[in-house]
Amino acid sequence: MPSLPQYSAVVPAAGIGKRMQAECPKQYLQIAGKTIIEHTLTNLLAHEQIKQVVVVLNANDMSFAQLPIANHTNIKTVMGGQERSDSVLAGLNYLSEDEDWVLVHDAARPCLAKSDLTALLQLANQGNVGGILASPVRDTMKRSVGLKTNQQNVVKYTESRENLWHALTPQFFNCGTLRKALTEARNKNVEITDEASAIEYLGEKVILVAGQASNIKITQPEDLLLAEFYLAQQQAK
Ligand code: CTP
Ligand code: MG
Repeated sequence: MPSLPQYSAVVPAAGIGKRMQAECPKQYLQIAGKTIIEHTLTNLLAHEQIKQVVVVLNANDMSFAQLPIANHTNIKTVMGGQERSDSVLAGLNYLSEDEDWVLVHDAARPCLAKSDLTALLQLANQGNVGGILASPVRDTMKRSVGLKTNQQNVVKYTESRENLWHALTPQFFNCGTLRKALTEARNKNVEITDEASAIEYLGEKVILVAGQASNIKITQPEDLLLAEFYLAQQQAK
C-alpha cells in the first residue's frame, strides 16, 4: 500500500487566556489528568499523517518546557506574537519553503476527533487551496443595535441561520498560499481572525468540511466541564 502523505501542523499557543480568568494561560489548565495543550498535541501526534507539530509559545512561557511532551521528537517550538495571526505566521516561517500543505490548530481545542482530522486532510491537492472544519449554526441568530458589555442590548433584526457556520480549527491550506495571505493581510493592516479569513482576503475559495460540534475552543470557565465530558466520551470509544 502506498504510504499516506505527511503534513506539518502549527499549533498557536501564545495566548494568555484573558476570558478564562485563570491563574495561568488556559492551555495549561488540567482536564482529565492532563493539561489542555497535552490533549491537543497528543491528538495531532496520534494521526499517521502528521509528521511534526510546531508549537508557538508566548515569549514569557515557562510552562511548556516542564511538560513531558515537550521532549517528543516530533515537537518543535517557536516564539509567537501579539495577535493570533502573528503567532501562526511565526509557526509557518519555521517550516521549510518546500512544505506543501499545512494544518493550523488551536492549542485550546483538545477534543478534536480523529475522523474529522482525516476528512479535512482529504482536501490536499484536490484543485483548491484548502479549507476548514466547521459546524452549522443551531441557535436563532440575533443582530443587536451595537454590542455593549454590561448594558441592555436591543435586537436590530434576526439573521437568517441559513448558510451560517461556526468556523473551527484545524484549518488546512496550501502552505505558500497561506503564508502569502497572512503576510499581505498584515502589510495592509487587514484584520484577520482565522487563517480562512486571510485566504478569503486573497479572493480564494475556502472549503467548509462539516465537523463535530464537540470540537470546542475552551474559552470561558464553563467550557472546562464540557471538554472533560467530550474527552471521556471519546476515550470510552
Ligand atoms: N494565540 C496565539 N497568539 C496570540 C493569541 C492567541 O498563539 N497572540 C492562540 C491561543 O493560545 C489559542 C488560540 O490562539 O490557543 C486561539 O485563541 P484564543 O482562544 O482567543 O486564546 P487566548 O487569546 O489565549 O484567549 P483570550 O482571547 O480569552 O485572551
Ligand atoms: Mg484571543
